[in-house]
Amino acid sequence: MEIITDITALRSILRNKKSITFVPTMGNLHDGHLSLIRMARQQRTDCIVVSIFVNHLQFLPNEDFEQYPRTLEEDCKQLKNYDVNIVFAPNKKTLYPEPQETLLTPPPIANELEGKFRPGFFCGVTTVVLKLFNIIQPQIAIFGNKDFQQLHIVKKMVKQLNLPINILAGETVRLKNGLALSSRNQYLNEIQLEEATRLYQTLTEIKQFVEKGNKDFKYLQENAVILLTKFGWRVDYIELRQKDDLSNAMPNDTDLVVLGAAWLNETRLIDNLEIRCK
Ligand code: PAJ
Repeated sequence: MEIITDITALRSILRNKKSITFVPTMGNLHDGHLSLIRMARQQRTDCIVVSIFVNHLQFLPNEDFEQYPRTLEEDCKQLKNYDVNIVFAPNKKTLYPEPQETLLTPPPIANELEGKFRPGFFCGVTTVVLKLFNIIQPQIAIFGNKDFQQLHIVKKMVKQLNLPINILAGETVRLKNGLALSSRNQYLNEIQLEEATRLYQTLTEIKQFVEKGNKDFKYLQENAVILLTKFGWRVDYIELRQKDDLSNAMPNDTDLVVLGAAWLNETRLIDNLEIRCK
């Protein structure tokens, strides 16, 4: 496994590779990330590239960019056991040698859900993902369902910009109690960690109600917000959407997703569950 920080060096190594599978990350790797790398291995491409880069462009000024856990050494130790060929870990100056003035405008859905509460987030994500795609030029790139809207917007970018990249999605990896793994979970103390599962439980209840035929989406959403608030959460949104285009869920839709984002003290957690109505 090679750890590369330089774009020219990376390009020269990748030049000989016939097929590349790429897993972009911000590091501080957990089993969720590693499950994507396991998927990458199954693709039987020549070369697996994992990027580790905490992208300042996708953080609002008051967010946790400075605090975000950076654990490159431990990450690389883990990746060595996973047959990863190349870790691309550029620094900010390498990826952004000058202020990034050429920015992507993601589609309007990027202003809803996450984008409503984190304005500019998906501009930052799509811009860095496109830069990384251009540098690495993979045939396959793998993203997690955990960030359902991010996956949707990346797929749309690939389609609308005619990028020759196959985007694959990995299932969300959870603790036994349902809590989705996230680098931000480590901001939580023991008591909060236990409480954090309530977001998953609440989404699960909505999923079960909808699958049983409850179509009062507004009630289900509002009720979930009330419940979480009672337990000390500050809810950004709990919303039922159509799975395919993330538009508002309608009573006759069969494939839905319930997405949620909420704060437990200073920590913002997101999760989602797909719903299939008969
Ligand atoms: P990061 O949060 O590090 O996540 C990297 C990838 O891991 C994303 O595709 C995310 O959906 C996936 N992931 C995170 N938690 C997961 C879990 N519990 N189970 C399965 N997959 C999980 O997402 C980003 O970084 C950045 O926005 C990035 C795409 C790298 C652009 O900067």
